[in-house]
Amino acid sequence: MMYKRPIGTQDITPDVVGEWRFVEESFRCLAERYGYGEIRTPIFEDTDLFLRSVGQDTDIGSKEMYTFEDRGKRSLTLRAEGTAPAVRAYLENHLDKTDKERVVKLFYIAPIFRYDRPQAGRYRQHHQCGIEIIGSHAPAADAEVITFAWNFYKLMGLTGIKVLINSVGCPLCAPNYVQKLKETMASSLGNLCEDCNHRYHHNPLRMLDCKLCADYMKRAPKLADELCGGCDEHMAAVKEILTALDVPFEVDHSIVRGLDYYTKTAFEFQIQGIGSQSALGGGGRYDGLVEKCGGPHTPGVGMGMGLERILLAREQAGLKAVSEERKGIFLVALGEAAWVECLKMVQELRMAGVPAEVDYRRRSMKAQLRFADNERFAYAAIIGDDELAKGVVGLKDLESGEQAEVARGELAGKLEAKPCG
Ligand code: HAM
Repeated sequence: MMYKRPIGTQDITPDVVGEWRFVEESFRCLAERYGYGEIRTPIFEDTDLFLRSVGQDTDIGSKEMYTFEDRGKRSLTLRAEGTAPAVRAYLENHLDKTDKERVVKLFYIAPIFRYDRPQAGRYRQHHQCGIEIIGSHAPAADAEVITFAWNFYKLMGLTGIKVLINSVGCPLCAPNYVQKLKETMASSLGNLCEDCNHRYHHNPLRMLDCKLCADYMKRAPKLADELCGGCDEHMAAVKEILTALDVPFEVDHSIVRGLDYYTKTAFEFQIQGIGSQSALGGGGRYDGLVEKCGGPHTPGVGMGMGLERILLAREQAGLKAVSEERKGIFLVALGEAAWVECLKMVQELRMAGVPAEVDYRRRSMKAQLRFADNERFAYAAIIGDDELAKGVVGLKDLESGEQAEVARGELAGKLEAKPCG
């Protein structure tokens, strides 16, 4: 019986992990420059946390969560998104209490689980790099989150990204809009898709971003025309700051996002050429979420970007982070005494910070040198009885083919070293 990985998941093997690490480490570095602290939350949470925040009638809440009962009969759900767990941890760890005036900035890089139909760029386990600013009403915070993502994509070498922004209103103005939307679309229900017929009753805003019904939705009133004064001013200020920061954006009235917690600003980053899934990232403001999670009224804004989609876009653009440069040393032992000595040397070199390897199969010298060259080692060191007696190694530069005798004690100093820890 050969087991296969679950459908919609990926193995990240050593030959590709370098690209993953490049994106993760770059994200971590930029987030820290922007003043975000890393938060790591459990891989599963109380199911209710997701239902209350994301919403029961959204795609995620109604059909995409990996929910199970543990042995204590608690309903738990694998992390379905990153914002609600971050807010839960913010409250539970009193991150707001350190300083009442403090705006808390958090980032995460985490696996996310959604039971969706897998296809190119869409997985049942994907990974998100996300940032959250909790505690600020300022439009500058929305602009910071959008600018952060824009700058990160730029660092990743990606071009042709569209920044689409919209406002989904607030509890003061959104209900009036939803009412108008339903009145306008009631006569078109027969033409709308099955999902939109369901959304009409349970989550009407989501009709606006349905690709199948886009033509009919042209009749829909514009959310922008129904915003209250506060939401209108907020949107205008976000746009003004983005313009000042040179972030090109388009206002797109169909950006409503698939999670219930958004208020005011909603945005998405799109790119072509990575399969049918063009959303490279997305986010928005969530001024009611902390309260919904049991805390005091506290505003928030954030975004999440799919790591796999960044990798697909980089691959599409022919970008590669991992260098093909040679590194490290391969020790070739000739004879029994040299073999034991090589085993000692390889440990010493590794602890000194040099990638070093020996051949446990103990093949011929020719085979070992060929292997070392194919594996892109920078050097090979040949150690036989003569070298042992003299306390030297025969050091061969595998790029130039040059060979020289080097005293054993000087070997580590001749090689590029980067100690761990
Ligand atoms: P989201 O739009 O559901 O937002 O996901 C954010 C990003 O994750 C998407 O734009 C996409 O790049 C990636 N993504 C989502 N689902 C999949 C999937 N099945 N396979 C591969 N990639 C995927 C959120 O989750 C919000 N928590 C973002 C946020 C943070 N809003 C405020 N703060």
